Amino acid sequence: MNIKQVAARRIWDSRGRPTVEVEVVNEDGTFGLGIAPAGASMGTREAVELRDGGTRFKGLDVQNALRGIVGEIAPTLVGRDVTRQADIDGALIALDGTPTKSRLGGNALIATSLAVLHAAAAHLPLWQYLAQGRPVRLPLPQIQIFGGGAHAGRRVDVQDFMVIATAATSFSQALEMTAEVYRAAGELMASRGQLAGVADEGGWWPSFARNEEALDALVASIEKAGFVPGQDVAIALDIAASEFGRGGKYRLALEGQELDTDALCERLVRWTEKYPIVSIEDPLAEDDEAGLVAFTRAVGGRVQVVGDDYLVTNADRVRAAATVGACNCALIKPNQAGTVTQTLAALEAARAEGYATIVSARSGETEDVAIVHLATGWNAGQLKVGSFARSERMAKWNEGIRIESRAGAPSGFAGRAALA
Ligand code: PGA
Ligand code: ZN
Repeated sequence: MNIKQVAARRIWDSRGRPTVEVEVVNEDGTFGLGIAPAGASMGTREAVELRDGGTRFKGLDVQNALRGIVGEIAPTLVGRDVTRQADIDGALIALDGTPTKSRLGGNALIATSLAVLHAAAAHLPLWQYLAQGRPVRLPLPQIQIFGGGAHAGRRVDVQDFMVIATAATSFSQALEMTAEVYRAAGELMASRGQLAGVADEGGWWPSFARNEEALDALVASIEKAGFVPGQDVAIALDIAASEFGRGGKYRLALEGQELDTDALCERLVRWTEKYPIVSIEDPLAEDDEAGLVAFTRAVGGRVQVVGDDYLVTNADRVRAAATVGACNCALIKPNQAGTVTQTLAALEAARAEGYATIVSARSGETEDVAIVHLATGWNAGQLKVGSFARSERMAKWNEGIRIESRAGAPSGFAGRAALA
């Protein structure tokens, strides 16, 4: 089936900022929509977002990206076989011509690439199109309870305080358990006068005096919800350390402390001994490879160590990390890579190296639920799309419920075995 038309428009993301939507129309009139999400705590090696600059919408408008899609990408894609994703993504990369996708923009490229994928899958649920008849399972959700870092005005240093319902035996049950913990956490915060609304991904916007207070509150919330911490529901953190550290120096603003790599590692190891933590993302900054290796060596046998800013959904970087022994799990964000094909390559590289995989949304999202289909159809072990509030988050969790309950559903649930 060939592509007849490629259209682009500006829509708005969950932070009310401009983003790119692409519509790819097939010759038979079926079509696919792709939308670019946007990060707030971005890795420096991610595909570059093309923003207009200037004063309009704080410089975040995407008119230049739209012009590139209409003027250059559309003429390149019209008439091509929509099912040849790898060829099309290769053509997009060649057309852009830069190593970082900065000319046409990673946002223009990922929206186009996803729209092509949706158009190719127009006659099937996307997860099923991607699974190609292979058995797949619903991923294990990592769900944020407190937001912090760049998603909550840096009110706490750590970015994501999340839970994983390790005792759940289905995707739906993992959501049921998380719903109880999320509500219990909100009630607990309110009763202590510590609740200040919700952060960018829907987690409670906390007002803690120390980062560790958030961990204590999380354990209390799990218990208040009627679960045994560590047994039924465990803790996952995204430290997002690149946001508060470079060159082996880390500044914890909440504690008023400056830590070097060893001291931050020690602090985090202590947390893993004191709290039921099963996963830590970006424990050290993206430039602190020696620290990541040391931390993985220290806790990697019992804790999942996730690379986000450090790996930036790049197959070569995943292989290089495996060679030195940094991390044991890769976060997979399509817009970090810039095309669907490169996203899948990073996921497959991770799997080949024995790394666990988490498909992840961004802090700036929309009603788009493609990420849930990618995670399921590609058989990723885990899924991270933010908290248990705000419709751009709930749309994704609800889509997982639909996929799980429909006829011809995936063969089960990845469960806690998906953790590294
Ligand atoms: P971001 O945050 O989308 O703002 O980069 C998500 C994450 O760090 O995992
Ligand atoms: Zn992260």
